[in-house]
Amino acid sequence: MKKLIYLTIFLLVTGAFTNQISAQSSWVAPKSADSNINPFKDDIEATKIGKKLYRQMCVTCHGVKGKGDGIAGVALTPKPANFTSGELQSQTDGAFFWKITEGKSPMAAYNMLNDKQRWQLVNYIRTLKQ
Ligand code: HEC
Repeated sequence: MKKLIYLTIFLLVTGAFTNQISAQSSWVAPKSADSNINPFKDDIEATKIGKKLYRQMCVTCHGVKGKGDGIAGVALTPKPANFTSGELQSQTDGAFFWKITEGKSPMAAYNMLNDKQRWQLVNYIRTLKQ
């Protein structure tokens, strides 16, 4: 019985600790994602469709200008990513693609979109950099 109590306390403490770490650390895609090359790079038509998809599916959290200030994002932890940030934009298209595919709570995995649509979104996200 005592063991069980200790175990519970241990789990609570480590749980709180790892929660704090994940709130601080940024989300890193695996190295292998970087070698996935964007077949629609510089394709203006693809970027246009990406904008439409973004306005439909992403804007509520990431905001119109991509600052992470959408109405549904305000109460979220961690906050939705800010696509205007140069540091965030320094990752590869493949890394963005991987994150959109995999998701990470509270963001859903957008694997219901096909590859082309997810690349179109990557193209559009690139235009939000300031
Ligand atoms: C429910 C709110 C929500 C919606 C809707 C949403 N996201 Fe996110 N997104 C987040 C949050 C929160 C994070 C930060 C996750 C983290 O850092 O742990 C994030 C992070 C990201 C990242 C990773 C940025 C980085 O850190 O490198 C990308 C890329 C992204 N979102 C793209 C999209 C796209 C594209 C869509 C639409 C198809 C979308 N998101 C829809 C909440 C959302």
